[in-house]
Amino acid sequence: MRPIHELQPWLEDEENRLRSRLREAQTLQEIQEIRAAFLGKKGVLTAELKTLRARPPEERKEAGRVLNQYKARWEQLIGERRSQLEAQAASSFDPTLPGRPYRLGHDHPLWLTLEEILDIFVGMGFEEVVGPLVEWERYNFEALNIPRHHPARDMQSSFFITDRMLLRTHTSPVQIRVMESRKPPLRVVSPGRVFRVDEFDPTHAPAFFQMEGLYVDREVSFAHLKGTLVRFLQRFFGENVEVRFLPSYFPFTEPSAEVAIRWKGEWLEVLGCGMVHPHVFEAVGLDPERWTGYAFGLGIDRFAMIRYGIPDIRLFYQGDLRFLRQFR
Ligand code: DAH
Repeated sequence: MRPIHELQPWLEDEENRLRSRLREAQTLQEIQEIRAAFLGKKGVLTAELKTLRARPPEERKEAGRVLNQYKARWEQLIGERRSQLEAQAASSFDPTLPGRPYRLGHDHPLWLTLEEILDIFVGMGFEEVVGPLVEWERYNFEALNIPRHHPARDMQSSFFITDRMLLRTHTSPVQIRVMESRKPPLRVVSPGRVFRVDEFDPTHAPAFFQMEGLYVDREVSFAHLKGTLVRFLQRFFGENVEVRFLPSYFPFTEPSAEVAIRWKGEWLEVLGCGMVHPHVFEAVGLDPERWTGYAFGLGIDRFAMIRYGIPDIRLFYQGDLRFLRQFR
């Protein structure tokens, strides 16, 4: 027990400590804690009050008076600081301030490009269809007139899952699925991811995006193909874009062509196309004497790279926000 003559100086010290803690307190929560430490059930002053009974009777009255005097003053000090903080909190809320900016995400540049291309074809009467990423060898190769030992398979080295199943190397198998499951006339486009065993370098990625197109009807001609693709390229790259068709080879089209555009003075190949090969019609049970059609395939990544001047395909797949945030 504290000698009676030390009681007052001790209370003075404690009060100084209380005042400085109150000055530093910034939240009502802190005020609560301070009150508990000084006046709560386990507070310093409460502990001292509990020793009153043990004091000799002649000290008891004086000690009680002093302790209660401090107790009342401390309650008051704490109450004042609490009101101050409450007033501050109330006045620091300004309902007229604008809200905090909230960072919204946005579509990926590849997705933006895909949607733009899709919109153009849908506007011309094509319907969007999707096919599976894991594909039968028959759909990815055989039915597209690419037999097992055909060298064209080397151009698309593949990720096989079993010896009959693989990650599709192009979107062309969707042509087969659509012709097998529906009756012509057909006008479809099919965007999606494709996979090839390739280095990940500025112009190659092991997974990238393509869009396939297929048009099947009576008496479809190369002129229809040309008109549709030129119109599409004008819509995407600008009305004045120069377009060039060059003879090419694909197993599933005959004749086949590569299409290039003139962009910043350079000819850039942008897609492959051709008239649906009779073998492909036969593979899906359509009579090549009755039906005609054209098909085309394009790389979404390549379209995005040309359009936005992106030098490295890997930027699409690295998730670097400094890159992505430029496309809002
Ligand atoms: N499937 C071809 C590829 O991935 C692209 C292609 C070329 C698709 C010509 C077609 C086409 O439909 O007619 O390289």
